[in-house]
Amino acid sequence: MTIEFEGRTLRAFTAEPLAVALFASGVRVLSRSIKYHRPRAFFCLEGHCGACLMRVDGIPNVRACMTRCREGLVVEGQNAFPASDLDVLSAMDWLFPQGMNHHTLMTGSKILNRVMQKFVRQLSGLGKAPERRGTALHEVRSQHVDVAVIGAGPAGLSAARAAAEQGASVLCVDEQALSGGSLLCDPRFGREEAERLAEAARNAGARFLTRSPVIAWFPEEDNGLLAVATPEGLVRVTARRYVYATGAYDTNALFEDNDRPGIFSARGVGRLAVLHGVRPGHRVVVVGAGSNDAVNAYAAALAAELGALGIETVFVDGNHEKALRARGHAWVEGLDVEGKDGRRHREPCDAVAVAAPPQPASEAPRQHGAEVVLSAEAGGFVVIADESGRTSVQGVLACGDVTGYMGPERAAHAGTRAGLAAAKEALSA
Ligand code: FES
Repeated sequence: MTIEFEGRTLRAFTAEPLAVALFASGVRVLSRSIKYHRPRAFFCLEGHCGACLMRVDGIPNVRACMTRCREGLVVEGQNAFPASDLDVLSAMDWLFPQGMNHHTLMTGSKILNRVMQKFVRQLSGLGKAPERRGTALHEVRSQHVDVAVIGAGPAGLSAARAAAEQGASVLCVDEQALSGGSLLCDPRFGREEAERLAEAARNAGARFLTRSPVIAWFPEEDNGLLAVATPEGLVRVTARRYVYATGAYDTNALFEDNDRPGIFSARGVGRLAVLHGVRPGHRVVVVGAGSNDAVNAYAAALAAELGALGIETVFVDGNHEKALRARGHAWVEGLDVEGKDGRRHREPCDAVAVAAPPQPASEAPRQHGAEVVLSAEAGGFVVIADESGRTSVQGVLACGDVTGYMGPERAAHAGTRAGLAAAKEALSA
């Protein structure tokens, strides 16, 4: 099938993520950042970083990695003139290297100020309105189950299966189109393992809502109410027990110009190569995390997989070296690296895969009242849960990476324990 990108017709597979289809067709810069017009490309490929926002069928700020290709899709970059890869307004980045504050760009005249502020705001890329309305979620349905599992990664799928096998009615909701979460981007497991786990949960009786993010929790009912935005409309989910298996977000490491296109999260590279079969580059630098063993193990597995695909791969071991600065402008061309002895060298590359500790996706259980603690090692707020996944709130359980990044295998075990505990409590409630 075909899609249109800034006047060009490109080929794509039906239902392929738009960001992947564009990359596979050679499109590198997707959009420009607001204000400084720095080039933007995807980073996480899972809908959480906001680096891939584009204008799709006249609607601005659409995540290209979460948009499925369909015939005739019309796609444009944002904040770019005349095109994303050749944006004359990127001079803003050069003109204001120390940053620009609209409030200090004042003249002596009120009228001139108004004109100038409007002009500068437009230069910055703020305010091109949608050409049509978004889709409203008119239809509202209700579902009540014994156990609601939020997240269909290794922890969520294992929890759903374990709870269903105990005889509980189970609904598993996930924002992604494919169940499997972090398994899907992991060369040690991959899509087959994700499908096996999802199939096992389904065979045990669990039901699924995919492409359905949980958008809020409300305290109305006894044990709360989840609002789930499905493609068909809003679903009010009530459950005796809630199991949060929301995983963790990909994060970046700190080094100069770490927002250059071509710098991806390691799991983003995994999604590209393992899930979609698209090569991320010809020479890839994989940056390890340092002290986090689970993250390092993933980074090493990814580096080995890329090597096996015939891609020249360099592994920067976070324990002995650190990334200092990205080179290149519209696309990364190299990475400056410093060893522990202070020696510096440059690794030429056309892709960087950063394996930083993922940040626990703890917003939903926090909103539900579960206690969290800030952990620098875990890169954010982790949910406090016991061995069985019980949190500080009666009826609310959490398991997997949302309680601190642990990798797919341990997450699956934690999910099983939480599913068993949730079913036991729900069926005796
Ligand atoms: S949100 Fe699309 S790449 Fe991160």
